Amino acid sequence: MSTGSVQNPVVPVPRVAIIVVAAGSGTRLGGDAPKAFVGLDEHTILRHALEHVVAFPGAQVVVVAPAGREGDALTEALAVFGDARELVSVVTGGATRQASVAAGLHAVWPDVEIVLVHDAARALVPLGVFDRVVSAIDDGAAGAIPVLPVVDAIKRVEEREVVGVVDRSLLSAAQTPQGFRRDILETAYRTARDEFTDDAALVAEAGHRVAAVLGDPLGFKITTPADLDRARSLVARHPHAPATFAGPPALPRVGVGTDVHAFGGEGTLWLAGLEWPGEQALSGHSDGDAVAHAIVDALLAAGGLGDIGTHFGTDYPEYAGAHAEVFLQRTRALLAEAGLRIGNVSVQVQANRPRFAARRREAEEVLSQALGAPVAVSATTTDGLGFTGTGEGVAAFAVALVVPA
Ligand code: CTP
Ligand code: MG
Repeated sequence: MSTGSVQNPVVPVPRVAIIVVAAGSGTRLGGDAPKAFVGLDEHTILRHALEHVVAFPGAQVVVVAPAGREGDALTEALAVFGDARELVSVVTGGATRQASVAAGLHAVWPDVEIVLVHDAARALVPLGVFDRVVSAIDDGAAGAIPVLPVVDAIKRVEEREVVGVVDRSLLSAAQTPQGFRRDILETAYRTARDEFTDDAALVAEAGHRVAAVLGDPLGFKITTPADLDRARSLVARHPHAPATFAGPPALPRVGVGTDVHAFGGEGTLWLAGLEWPGEQALSGHSDGDAVAHAIVDALLAAGGLGDIGTHFGTDYPEYAGAHAEVFLQRTRALLAEAGLRIGNVSVQVQANRPRFAARRREAEEVLSQALGAPVAVSATTTDGLGFTGTGEGVAAFAVALVVPA
């Protein structure tokens, strides 16, 4: 660090650059401005995207703007970057996303080693996703992209007929930021002859292996008016501002969660992370697994992170039909982002059926595996009293302990 130099004061040379592509027109959104300039609240999609990008400290940021909107993009960038304004620049995009990324790449400074390419349209991606992508590259990957498991059943459809089933456990949905070693990305872009859907496809075509890291439901792309509504309601609710404490706690914290679901759903019963063939299904937005949902609420409460509706409510269509593992793994990731790890969980289910005795251990294993922490499952009946006693539904009660990571 130099003292008394006439150069700019102490700005370390960035080793990471983030190209924020914002030059699309937003045809599917159908707004009256290019998509990046559509408002989420009093601020635009681009402004929100940059508010998340700036949380990744010390990176060069290149905003790729639609032709004619460079000045507006710069105004947004300067408002966000303030004192760090020398880190950010604006370039003009191209006719395709790939051309826009290429334009951004040209503006990356010489010393940068890792380039992240990020869609402005994914305006709400939390910092943890950026960290995970960069860590994977630091650990030796040529490239890394955030992915989420696919929760819907996937069918092959030809001419309006279902002609096959695709095993969704083999599939993941890709998000951004997609990160790459700079030399590899530049070479791949220089030699690409086709249009690719994303940067990972282009780099894979050039013969490199791309790692997958955990994405985030907040990394969804604002594409349609429904996506815009969802983003607006999320911004209005600030789901990630922990209400009950700021930062990791000094002491362990407990949380309590309960859930109830009525019998009468479609298909087979899913409870405590297990499928119960021959048992009546529970109804609910997801699979109605009251045990998993009570655990999620207990964990989120312990972490001061809101409740199940904050993170998995009906305005998150990707969780429709999802099973316990998806909810629990996501909850574990949310806690990790808040600097917390799970100590243990105890959950009790009240139900006449199914009979847990023979499968209690199995349930504990599945739930513990998903959370990476011990889960104890107990079950009881209520002597014929109440809705569980009459067999109308199932209730579950969970207590969770979380500790600083
Ligand atoms: N993008 C870009 N330049 C383009 C096309 C897209 O920089 N020529 C950017 C968009 O601004 C967006 C991201 O790439 O942040 C993902 O693209 P998409 O969601 O398809 O946005 P649009 O192309 O704007 O939308 P549409 O396809 O509905 O027109
Ligand atoms: Mg597009």
